[in-house]
Amino acid sequence: MKSAMTDAPRSATSPGADDARPPRKTALQAVRGMNDVLPDEAALWERFEETTRDVFRRYGYRNLRVPIVEPTPLFVRAIGDATDVVEHEMYTFEDRLNGESLTLRPEATAGIVRAAIEHNLLYERPQRVWLAGPMFRHERPQKGRYRQFHQFDVEALGFAGPDVDVEQIVMLARLWRELGLADGIHLEINSIGDAAERRAHRSALVEYFTRYADALDADSRRRLSTNPLRILDSKNPALQEIIAGAPRLVDRLELPARTHFDALTQMLADAGIAYIVNPRLVRGLDYYNRTVFEWVTDRLGAQGTVAGGGRYDGLFEELGGKFTPACGFAMGVERMILLLQLAKGDVRDAPFAYIVHVGDAAAKLAHRVAEELRDAGHSIVMNAGGGSFKAQMKRADASDARFALIVGDDEAAAGTVAIKPLREPGEQRAVAAQDVAEHLSASAHKTL
Ligand code: HAM
Repeated sequence: MKSAMTDAPRSATSPGADDARPPRKTALQAVRGMNDVLPDEAALWERFEETTRDVFRRYGYRNLRVPIVEPTPLFVRAIGDATDVVEHEMYTFEDRLNGESLTLRPEATAGIVRAAIEHNLLYERPQRVWLAGPMFRHERPQKGRYRQFHQFDVEALGFAGPDVDVEQIVMLARLWRELGLADGIHLEINSIGDAAERRAHRSALVEYFTRYADALDADSRRRLSTNPLRILDSKNPALQEIIAGAPRLVDRLELPARTHFDALTQMLADAGIAYIVNPRLVRGLDYYNRTVFEWVTDRLGAQGTVAGGGRYDGLFEELGGKFTPACGFAMGVERMILLLQLAKGDVRDAPFAYIVHVGDAAAKLAHRVAEELRDAGHSIVMNAGGGSFKAQMKRADASDARFALIVGDDEAAAGTVAIKPLREPGEQRAVAAQDVAEHLSASAHKTL
């Protein structure tokens, strides 16, 4: 059998290379701000995703999927045309065939509400749903902020709350616990009231900030007429003192929103969830009313919000449906992965066993044993591409497998497999081929 070592591709520049081969093409790179997740890192993504899905399942949330591309007006109407997302960050393009304006989803709530209206999803009962997938925003990339990023998005459609608002917060608190991250993430909440008090608050803000117009930066001055609420969100250190003195909506809530917020805080206290009321928390999307919340970590620098959401009772009507109260949030997967890496390092999905085999008879036996082990649920890597025992043992070791299973002519003739532990003490020993699965399953329960 030919050794894999001799199969290396000939380089185009090596002597004897075929002169007729075209010159090597320049390699292409991924779009800036859009990342590959390679297998070593993807193992952590998968574990995180499994835990998250399982927590959502335990609260009765069901998966739903909507397209990545939607008609642009959906996002303009839902998110609001004076928001950063709609003004600056959307990947919008014209359908080449019919000229329709389309947009890569910058977030999931708009698409989910569109789908709920389109399919009359709430005809029989309210719905708890979640969605996972990529979102796209043309932001300046930095650690924790990308142009293609991933969210787990959760929505409770047709619930007036505040019990369901609390349910979602409690669900996230459980997720942090189950991921071992509870110590590093805290909760901030606020109420931004209903339409009437938001209008009144808006006027009060315009009046207040107009008094300081000369001191405002260009962005905030522009927002004075477009979206004054967002001035409260400004990170400009020079404005912090002015912002601190601005009228607070949470102090001017009308009775229904006040009652909702008081019940929310009471239920959070009952559930043992610590929170900070942050009167400046307004969120960057226009559809919210009443409850808004963010889970924040100080371990990731400027991009510390790992999940954010709130109530959006007016969105169904805004998108042409009938009045439907709803509440939801989205969690940034990349930020969670960064936190998990900081807390635990990368995990690798190592195979249980790597099968080393040399010779035709050995290959046949090895295949049979491999399939039996896979029947028993183990992850088994068969050596592929031939190679000497020594070369294959090197690959077995590099694979991080717990065991090497070795089959040569002698083993094939005797119907046995040599089992060699690679990560724990113990001698190599021969086991009858039909007993390998049982023998290894017993080892599988022993922790390393
Ligand atoms: P959002 O606050 O825009 O809310 O995003 C939610 C989370 O997505 C953020 O807290 C952050 O973790 C992550 N995220 C946002 N932008 C980026 C980015 N450029 N790079 C990496 N991660 C990012 C929403 O999207 C709402 N749809 C949430 C919601 C659902 N509200 C109600 N229902």
